[in-house]
Order: sequence, then C-alpha cells, then structure tokens
Amino acid sequence: MQRSKISVIGAGNVGSSLAQFLAIRELGDVYLFDIIEGIPEGKALDIMEGTPHWGADSKVVGFNTANEENYRHLEGSNVIIVTAGLARKPGMSRDDLLGKNVEVISGVARNIKKYAPEAIVVVVTNPADIMAYALYKVSGIKPEKILGLGGSLDSARFRTFLSMELGVSVEDISAFVIGGHGDDMVPFIRYSSAGGIPISNLISKERIAEIVKRTRMGGGEIVNYLKTGSAYYAPGISITAMVESILRDRKRIIPSAAFLTGEHAKHYGADGIFIGLPVRIGANGVEHVYDIDFSEEELSLWKKTIESVTSSCKKVDEFLSR
Ligand code: APR
Repeated sequence: MQRSKISVIGAGNVGSSLAQFLAIRELGDVYLFDIIEGIPEGKALDIMEGTPHWGADSKVVGFNTANEENYRHLEGSNVIIVTAGLARKPGMSRDDLLGKNVEVISGVARNIKKYAPEAIVVVVTNPADIMAYALYKVSGIKPEKILGLGGSLDSARFRTFLSMELGVSVEDISAFVIGGHGDDMVPFIRYSSAGGIPISNLISKERIAEIVKRTRMGGGEIVNYLKTGSAYYAPGISITAMVESILRDRKRIIPSAAFLTGEHAKHYGADGIFIGLPVRIGANGVEHVYDIDFSEEELSLWKKTIESVTSSCKKVDEFLSR
C-alpha cells in the first residue's frame, strides 16, 4: 500500500510539533514547508532522526518556500495542513493581523490550487474559521474538503478540565465545543458526560460556569505563561486526531470549522461561512454535519458567534477585492 503524503505549511511551533506527532504515529510521509530558509529543512531532519526509536518509517523532509517553486513538492498530497501566518505584534490591530494573514493564506491557497487541488486541507492559522473561508475563496477547492481547527482543540481542553475536576479518566469524558474558535465559542453542557452520566449531575452549576470560562480562555492562559508564543502541543495533537480520521477514514465526530450551506445553513442561521460545527470526518473530508438543538441560552451565544464570524468573512471579501 502506498504511504500517505501529508504536507504541513508553516514550520513554526504548531507546524513542527504537528509534524513530529504525524511522523511518530506513522500516518504518512511528512513534507514541511516554511518561508524561512533552513527552518523547514533543519526541523524536518531533526524530527526524522528521532523516528528510529519508535520504529516509525515516516519520511520527513523540509522545503523553503522563499523559493516559491518549491511549492511543487505539494503535488500528490493527501492532506495539507496550513499553519503559516504571522502573530499579532504590539500596536497591530486585529484587523491589521487579519489582512496580513489573508495575504499569507492567499499565497498558500494559490499554490494548493496549482499543485494539489484534490487534497483535503486543514486550516490552523488563526482566526482559523475565517482563514478557512479565505482559503476556500482563493483556492476554489470544494468546501467539504476544507476544515478549520477549532472544536478539536477547544473540546480537548474542555474534556481535560472536566476530568481534572472529577478525578476520572479523560477517556470517559465526552464533551464538545462549537462556534467560532475564540472568546465566543459555545461549550455544550447538556451534551457533556462522564461515563455517560450528564456532567450537570456531577458538578455544580457554579463550577461548570468556571470550567466553561477557563475553556474559553484556554488559549490565553497558555499565552500568559509563555509570554512570547502561544500553545502548540495540544493544537498539534488536536490536528493529528483530525488528520488520522481523514487518512484512516475513521469517521470520528470531531467539531471543526466547516462550510455552512443548504439545509444546515437554515438550521444554524447563517449561509456561506465556515464555523465550528459537530461534523463527521472521513476520507472525503467533512462527510456529515449534525444539526443539533439549542437551548435558549445556547442560541443567544450561537447568534453572537455567527455575527462575529460573518462580519469577519465580509472583511476577508473586502481584502480579497482590493
Ligand atoms: N509561507 C510559509 N510560511 C510562512 C509564511 C508564508 N507566507 N508566513 C509565515 N510563515 C511561517 C513563519 O515563518 C513561521 O515559521 O509560519 C510559521 C508560523 O509559526 P509560529 O510563528 O511559530 O506560530 P505558531 O505558534 O506555529 O502558530 C501558527 O497557528 O494556532 C495558530 O494562532 C496560531 O495562527 C497561528 C498559527
């Protein structure tokens, strides 16, 4: 059987930790790309040199895209993960950052269109739902083949905090978070359980509210500790889970930013945007979107997240029309 080819664009903290998880799990050969000469080549070699200890036969190679020609190595990719982007610098507004990252994503999207239009693409660059939309607009790839990281990571954080609270295995915690991957994400209490027991039977309302708050601020909590960077281990594993479900056609339900259209658009109250939804992920990308019911409180949170994602997508349209 031919080995899968996985390309990771952006060899920074998230891209390189992801590349290592992918290689160790032998999900395929990993091609690492970055615009800084030497970084993708060096990190790829470093990761590959550790594989003998795990008996992992994944090849890991790096290419710098300072020479844009090197994007030709995307050809034949089964899955492409995009982590390339800029971090917010002091004095930069959120909109400035959005504009800069739309530029980066546009360049990446053009090359994906040119060399690997059949690949399934996972967008990680933040804001991931908005960048997934930008990549969709520029690449013209079928929307069901594009996913954004969001709920996979947010739900993992939520599950971790619930397991810490209850002192039970993370494996027995089932919980999910949808909506935008940001301050207005929507963690679903009603659908969360420990060993099948609803968490509202096990944890007080007040403590649940605190855990939800911590989940919302999960990314910020790590930034506060690190000071000069943001989370990458949990993001790396959360992306690996999505990639594994694609390549092994596991059909896992992992909340991810997915395209809203048709009947689902009616159900969720927005059309033509990417937003965190409970989806089934398999060999074809997003294979099913689940329409779930909202309580009154959840609906008001949902409307807020829809509004903010829709308005950011409009800004992307403006940037792209310039
Ligand atoms: N083409 C290729 N690579 C690029 C480009 C480009 N046009 N622009 C930037 N990069 C590379 C940078 O050189 C850097 O190595 O993207 C990498 C980003 O890595 P980090 O700055 O370490 O950021 P990281 O922590 O990995 O986060 C990446 O994922 O979770 C999100 O918010 C996070 O948007 C951010 C992204």
